Amino acid sequence: MHVLLAYASLSGNTREVARIVTARLRMHGHVVRCVEVDGAHAADIGQPRDALLLGCWTDNAGRTPAEMKQFVATLHDGPGMPPAARVAVFGTGETQWGQEYYCGAAHRLARFFGSPHPVLEIEQMPHGDADTRTIHHWADHVSAAIEALRHADPARHHAG
Ligand SMILES: Cc1cc2nc3c(=O)[nH]c(=O)nc-3n(C[C@H](O)[C@H](O)[C@H](O)COP(=O)(O)O)c2cc1C
Repeated sequence: MHVLLAYASLSGNTREVARIVTARLRMHGHVVRCVEVDGAHAADIGQPRDALLLGCWTDNAGRTPAEMKQFVATLHDGPGMPPAARVAVFGTGETQWGQEYYCGAAHRLARFFGSPHPVLEIEQMPHGDADTRTIHHWADHVSAAIEALRHADPARHHAG
């Protein structure tokens, strides 16, 4: 399937998770377009896609950073919002900001899109085998779930 992975990253943590997710999905044979969100890319997202994966760092008190808000607004006003079941979200954050705010942007995005998939949370830069396994497991799970949906409802896929 064709996947658009759009991520926002200030200092590289979320970029690294995006890189691992992208590599994993490509290993499974999916076509992945991985873009860091900014004004230039936001205008260029009208391509057909089977899945939208969003990756985001979290700003002050659980907030979504401005560049991701802008991307979502452009998607909303342009190509339109994909069906909720085709959207999955991951994020990086730090628990030192408080558990209620941890990876808050990722959770806000998942709620906004109505994503039924689990939100992947990684603390800061992913490191070690455990984080890699967690990321692979998440990527495998969401791609299988979205792929199953695609096969179950091909008419909707072609319409969308
Ligand atoms: C100003 C500022 C506010 C932050 N607030 C939160 C927060 O509320 N919750 C959280 O989980 N992380 C918070 N963080 C931590 C970042 O989200 C975290 O370091 C993240 O991994 C950065 O990702 P990036 O390297 O992709 O930019 C904050 C970081 C900064 C700089």
